[in-house]
Amino acid sequence: MKTYLVTGGFGFIGSNFIRYILDEQKDVFIINVDNITYAANPENLSGYSTNYKFYKTDISDKTALSKVFNENKIDCVVNFAAESHVDRSIADPGIFIKTNIEGTLNLLELSMAHNIGKFLQISTDEVYGSLGETGKFSEETCVSPRSPYSASKAGADMLAMSFFHTYNMPVLISRCSNNYGPYQFPEKLMPLVIINAINDKDIPLYGDGKNIRDWIHVSDHVKGICLVLDKGKFGEVYNIGGDSEAENIDIITYILNKLNKPHSLIKYVKDRQGHDRRYAMDFHKINGEMGFLPEYNIEKGIDSTINWYIKNESWWRKILSGNYKDYYKKMYENR
Ligand code: NAD
Ligand code: TYD
Repeated sequence: MKTYLVTGGFGFIGSNFIRYILDEQKDVFIINVDNITYAANPENLSGYSTNYKFYKTDISDKTALSKVFNENKIDCVVNFAAESHVDRSIADPGIFIKTNIEGTLNLLELSMAHNIGKFLQISTDEVYGSLGETGKFSEETCVSPRSPYSASKAGADMLAMSFFHTYNMPVLISRCSNNYGPYQFPEKLMPLVIINAINDKDIPLYGDGKNIRDWIHVSDHVKGICLVLDKGKFGEVYNIGGDSEAENIDIITYILNKLNKPHSLIKYVKDRQGHDRRYAMDFHKINGEMGFLPEYNIEKGIDSTINWYIKNESWWRKILSGNYKDYYKKMYENR
């Protein structure tokens, strides 16, 4: 039995990862460490109780976190826990430093003290900065973050790598492009558009709507993470991408057409401050070394995501009736 300590397991990608691992592998035990922020939803793992244990613990609280390490024999740490939304980082950067950098440092220190066999830092293409019309991010691209969110993630990556170089710790880093799919909190573009369209609500489109993201279905990301855990070399970074670049306006138009909703729902609003223009991932390394290829093309991925949100209305209606209302008002009312 292999024991994984997974942080942020009640969030979007962490919960998809835990469900996948527990469904696919019989010989794993998962310890989920999550302090249940606004982005967490314990329902994301309802029905999962075998080979699974949960700690309501803040990774930035080292004393509390050390209890988890003392009480369990952990083989591998996978660090998903983070503040993850760029707009929130622009409004209030402090918590991003606390969770994403101090929390990662605590995990690294405790992992070293307990001789953990593997530490995977889940990172993002946003650490590389913003691209012009051509080129892609490779693992050799200089880190050049431009939002408080991406700066905090870059800081965490550098700390993780410093533990490899300085202490010879078994550190891996994966950097992925924009995820979408089931269980994504509706502050992010895709679920926000699907839900607003279903509710016949305006869809806020930042700036000229032509910013480009490289979209990947979360299940492809999860499979990439499993490959990195299985085959990755310590001290290396692995890019994971979806090979699906699209302008925001095209994503929104596609979703509106699928749901038979009018394009008049689109409302151009004030641009995000420092809005990164384009992300695109070169993932030759993980493809060549491990055979990674995304299985979803963007149409198939969006279609299945729309169906998931239609079928799971009670999941997102509960979110919409809570604190999300205040967030939405603050972020969009006078934009
Ligand atoms: P999310 O916001 O949906 O979930 C984050 C989870 O972490 C939540 O369950 C939250 O409660 C937990 N968490 C936050 N602060 C914590 C703390 N101090 N202690 C313990 N738990 C805490 O995020 P996500 O979209 O699932 O992203 C997961 C990871 O993947 C993040 O590290 C993010 O940077 C990275 N990533 C995300 C994307 C994307 O498109 N969503 C792309 C690439 C990389
Ligand atoms: P987002 O889902 O926040 O991901 P990220 O900023 O990490 O890439 O946003 C994706 C793109 O969609 C980004 O270019 C900003 C844009 N966007 C909007 O136009 N309107 C919105 O309401 C949101 C949330 C995002």
